[in-house]
Amino acid sequence: MPAIVVVGAQWGDEGKGKVTDVLGAQVDYVVRYQGGNNAGHTVVVNSPEGPQKFALHLLPSGILTPTVTPVIGNGVVVDPAVLLGEIVALNERGIDTSRLLISADAHLITRYHVAMDKTVERFMGNRKIGTTGRGIGPAYMDKVGRQGIRVQDLYDASILRQKVEGALEPKNHMLVKVYNRRAVDASEVTEELLGYGEQIKRYVADTSLVLDQALEAGRTVLLEGGQGTLLDVDHGTYPFVTSSNPTAGGAAVGAGIGPTRITGVVGIVKAYTTRVGEGPFPTELFDEDGEKLREIGGERGVTTGRPRRCGWYDAVIARYATRVNGLTDFFLTKLDVLTGWEQIPVAVAYDIDGVVTENMPVSQTDFHHAKPIFEYLPGWAEDISTAREFADLPKNAQRYVEFLEEVSGAPMSAVGIGQARDAVIERRPLIR
Ligand code: IMP
Repeated sequence: MPAIVVVGAQWGDEGKGKVTDVLGAQVDYVVRYQGGNNAGHTVVVNSPEGPQKFALHLLPSGILTPTVTPVIGNGVVVDPAVLLGEIVALNERGIDTSRLLISADAHLITRYHVAMDKTVERFMGNRKIGTTGRGIGPAYMDKVGRQGIRVQDLYDASILRQKVEGALEPKNHMLVKVYNRRAVDASEVTEELLGYGEQIKRYVADTSLVLDQALEAGRTVLLEGGQGTLLDVDHGTYPFVTSSNPTAGGAAVGAGIGPTRITGVVGIVKAYTTRVGEGPFPTELFDEDGEKLREIGGERGVTTGRPRRCGWYDAVIARYATRVNGLTDFFLTKLDVLTGWEQIPVAVAYDIDGVVTENMPVSQTDFHHAKPIFEYLPGWAEDISTAREFADLPKNAQRYVEFLEEVSGAPMSAVGIGQARDAVIERRPLIR
């Protein structure tokens, strides 16, 4: 009964969607356990009409694999309008979504959460976080502040009305008196939510129980994190983080299974580093190398379209991800993007105000001052996207992967070398 967590080891956008999709054929359930439609997964599926590209924000990427049951766990914040939009869009392209399960305990993102997210960000000025503007932070604030609306509330109209009124009252004061915006009407929100409730009713389930029974029956469960380790509200570069726990511990809480159920934790790590939004980033490039990585790697946000900040691989971050997630494996993605460089820098330590450290500094101020100490590896010029065995890779590409393995704290068990679903070299089975 393997339960494998797949978690981003950097700042998100490491290619988790592709990885979960690749593993899809070997698993029975794919569960999202935190975040919401701030995530963006691009999955390319080969079909008789040629490669088809899917951009998913809220639905687990397992939705594209007919043998998988996709699950939205209790730890996710669900914008029902976005959810229904994704379901309809997939149905129009012939994808069956009827297997989807949504936790009755998941919290909802309403339009007042979106309004608060956008308004507060605008007022923060140069202190802004650079959120995706999807209402994620305000929805989690209400959850922790015990003013949240859960999926199950959609099926008790009088409770829903009371909860929406209670949650809206202080927000309307804020919107009108502090931010000079229009108040949101509680009845309109309630009616809108009741309408969504009817439309998603067929998917709502006790997903904790379903997953427990599945694990007992020997099924394989994949727990899919959104965002990444350094965007974790506890372990990330706070306050430039998302408002949930993508790290592996969050998988048990957000899926409603016990931590002893988890049998493996796969960290997805890009062969270089990217970040969207504000906050420190020691290996960031501001020169033409950064531009080249962005160009070749197609580094633009799936959710917001923002250009991603790009930099070299950072082994200090990778080791930190190994530590806070208990990684058993890495899945290295986008190695092909590095083809064509004469030499490739890899950060192995930081110089922080004259002191060399190999560990992630505990102080954010120190992290802001961290200057990467690089080792330089020889590059390769050959196209590697058709390689299917590790031995097919040019010697220098092999050496690059082996070096990352030595300095990152866990084996590089798989390597992604192109966009296509099968452009992967599996060095060691990820599901064991
Ligand atoms: P929020 O999650 O919308 O509140 O945004 C908080 C921070 O997390 C911002 O820096 C976002 O750019 C970042 N973020 C949220 N979701 C993703 C993602 O899926 N990939 C990369 N960054 C993300």
